[in-house]
Amino acid sequence: MKTIDDLEAQIGGLAGKRVLVRSDLNVPLDQSGDAPVITDDGRIRASVPTLRRLLDAGARVVVTAHLGRPKGAPEAKYSLAPVHARLAELLEGVSVGFSPVTVGPEAKAAVDALADGELLLLENIRFNAGETSKDDGERGAFADELAALADAFVSDGFGAVHRKHASVYDVARRLPHAAGGLVATEVEVLKRLTTSPERPYAVVLGGSKVSDKLGVIDNLLGSLLSEGDRLLVGGGMVFTFLKAQGYEVGTSLLEADQLDRVAQYVRTAKDKGVELVLPTDVVAATAFAADAEHDVVAADAIPADRLGLDIGPDSGAAFAARLADARTVFWNGPMGVFEMEPYAHGTRAVAQGIVDSGAFSVVGGGDSAAAVRSLGFADEQFGHISTGGGASLEYLEGKHLPGLDVLD
Ligand code: 3PG
Repeated sequence: MKTIDDLEAQIGGLAGKRVLVRSDLNVPLDQSGDAPVITDDGRIRASVPTLRRLLDAGARVVVTAHLGRPKGAPEAKYSLAPVHARLAELLEGVSVGFSPVTVGPEAKAAVDALADGELLLLENIRFNAGETSKDDGERGAFADELAALADAFVSDGFGAVHRKHASVYDVARRLPHAAGGLVATEVEVLKRLTTSPERPYAVVLGGSKVSDKLGVIDNLLGSLLSEGDRLLVGGGMVFTFLKAQGYEVGTSLLEADQLDRVAQYVRTAKDKGVELVLPTDVVAATAFAADAEHDVVAADAIPADRLGLDIGPDSGAAFAARLADARTVFWNGPMGVFEMEPYAHGTRAVAQGIVDSGAFSVVGGGDSAAAVRSLGFADEQFGHISTGGGASLEYLEGKHLPGLDVLD
């Protein structure tokens, strides 16, 4: 993968060049008040170093990004306007403009008006049907319009590199290109997780659905984890594991169609000597609400009218103990509904366990990153907080990511 330094040499310097940068600025927004509020700006902050690098070199930077999943047409709630405001704050001292359109004469005029060292953020790229189209021709035609705005392309939106989208994939085939610093760092870290990691290697998986994690569990049990390594499971997905052990799970989340597959995982882990660590107690509530009646119950005694919303305190301690001597840790997915204080303990215990282990640790996925920050942990306490959710999981599944392949 070419770096920005390589690109700079290739195109004879960056000063005065129009550089299109794909960033991942897809941040969580609280839309409940009068104005949208960004609840975790981690992805915006992670995008700043590459933008600064280009701006400092005198490039005219055009940033493209998406927010949410609009259906190929403008929708006010998916506007990047709040992101623009935050980016402008973080890039204090730089002129940071916003173009309400992404391509065409109006966007071109805004790009042409940029001076060296100035930046223009384009509105949500997914307001165009061509961006995500499965039709190569339609996507390519849109990529042509995007490419017409720039002299070079820098791919820095790691969270979107698993998408074969115009602004991620096709535009790189049309312009001299390089990986931005964020993409380069993320790939380096994921390589470390997949190529001779230091052992014991512990992987903590959580989040609501086991069906989202099948690919990664297949690859973990298939090749990445060996004898003496650990797979710790919590979150909503764990109830399918508990049910597969023969336990009743009350009204907890359950993916009945995955029971056979999960039972096979339990057998494979045993055969390989990979320790599968499941909770022995859970916090079970009468409803999905912070003020619902809730108690700690044994994992094999969840009452029929209750649902599990967190791993219990014994499990939190046991999970931390299985992390204590790990040398490499990958964590994706919260252990419970951490946004509600009564169900945040398990996620906090795992985060603390990872920090205390001193292992090389990677926290992957928007939810997990937001969880650790909202629970008061600092990014620096972990080896790396990935900006990619789906992208880092697909990498760990061993899949080819179009947005990375195109850079090679
Ligand atoms: C993410 O949030 O994982 C990335 O921004 C990609 O978003 P997407 O899943 O909507 O493509």
